Amino acid sequence: MLASLTTAAVRRQAASRLAALNFGRVASVSTWANVQQGPPDAILGVTEAFKADKDPRKMNLGVGAYRDDQGKPYVLSCVRKAEERILSNLMDKEYLGITGLPAFVKQAVKLAYGDELTASLNGQIAATQSISGTGALRVGGAFLSRFYPHHKKIYLPTPSWGNHTPIFRDAGLEVGQYRYFDKQTNGLDINGMLEDLKNIPAQSIVLLHACAHNPTGVDPTPAQWNQISEAIKERDHFVFFDMAYQGFASGDINRDAQAVRQFVREGHRVALAQSFAKNIGLYGERVGAFSLVCDSPKEKAATESQLKILIRPMYSNPPMNGARIVNEVLQDPKLHSEWLTEVKGMADRIITMRTKLRGHLENDFGSKHSWHHITDQIGMFCFTGLTPDQVAKITSEFHVYLTKDGRISMAGISSNNVKYLAEAMHEVTR
Ligand SMILES: Cc1ncc(COP(=O)(O)O)c(C=O)c1O
Repeated sequence: MLASLTTAAVRRQAASRLAALNFGRVASVSTWANVQQGPPDAILGVTEAFKADKDPRKMNLGVGAYRDDQGKPYVLSCVRKAEERILSNLMDKEYLGITGLPAFVKQAVKLAYGDELTASLNGQIAATQSISGTGALRVGGAFLSRFYPHHKKIYLPTPSWGNHTPIFRDAGLEVGQYRYFDKQTNGLDINGMLEDLKNIPAQSIVLLHACAHNPTGVDPTPAQWNQISEAIKERDHFVFFDMAYQGFASGDINRDAQAVRQFVREGHRVALAQSFAKNIGLYGERVGAFSLVCDSPKEKAATESQLKILIRPMYSNPPMNGARIVNEVLQDPKLHSEWLTEVKGMADRIITMRTKLRGHLENDFGSKHSWHHITDQIGMFCFTGLTPDQVAKITSEFHVYLTKDGRISMAGISSNNVKYLAEAMHEVTR
């Protein structure tokens, strides 16, 4: 057919195609012309700048991912073993149900609430697998936005993890704040927090970090948790716990879940977001869980039915690999105890880095500032107290990369560079 076209006909066709293209351009403005360039993600921006730096002493303390003492990403050996088992079982790749792998969900709930509470609340905890902690928060936010019978506003600590506000806003909740961090002491502003919890409207939704508060590393003491629980009860608030670091904070999974369990024992009907990114090192596998403590098996069944209705149009059903790994690790006694040792190992390495960093600052460099908060704070992050100017200086002069708020990821520090970091912090705070 082509062969039968004359040269003139081919030229005519080409000309008319070109005209159509030009016509398209002239006659309409591009469909996406009104899409504005958005700002880069604050933490990923730090990583970009770090990558471009050629200095061999450079340190990336922006991103919250665990590194071993050689500064390398770390895959837990219990995870490697679980993966081998899964592989050798030649399992199928059929879809999971909307709320995920039932055996995994059961294990996740037991891990968070503990054996005793899980048994005593038999049939009352509605739960679903989620796309890691972020997905649990987002599904929980959407559930509250649709069903919470009072004012649909969630109060976050100041400051909070940077993703909380967009997650809850996008889920349809209003977002408010309560005081949390005291800049003078680099510790908890317990009086401000209690005052705010008493002054916000009754039956508000309050987000609490269960342990290893991000970004400050400041957690309430057990006595302060009692006061917080009382204040919340007095005002009949609803608590949404975010537990992204169970076991990773103190090295003890039960201690880190203490606040959640205490609240539930005291009668709070909490919601809970869990992540297995940090404590089992499954960042990219995206495995987590959302749960809600209900009053009865009937309420649990209704809640789970509505969670399914929410999740189905969002992503249909969650990925299976991470859930299989977590289930294998948690349900097998040998792997479980290996995991407990490994999670403690990660937490202990971070705690050691805190001690060393403070020790170098005070003893080797004779800094006159108070650095006790470095060892008082807990978890992945330390809120150093560095001002934005000092952050700019430590980056430009010492090639140390961190977020503008002065937060450093303790997991990015190793025996090889902790003294260098102390020196840099000392120099910019002289
Ligand atoms: C406080 C807090 N919540 C939730 C998450 C969720 O992380 P992921 O979605 O990777 O589980 C994080 C991760 O940094 C966090 O710090």
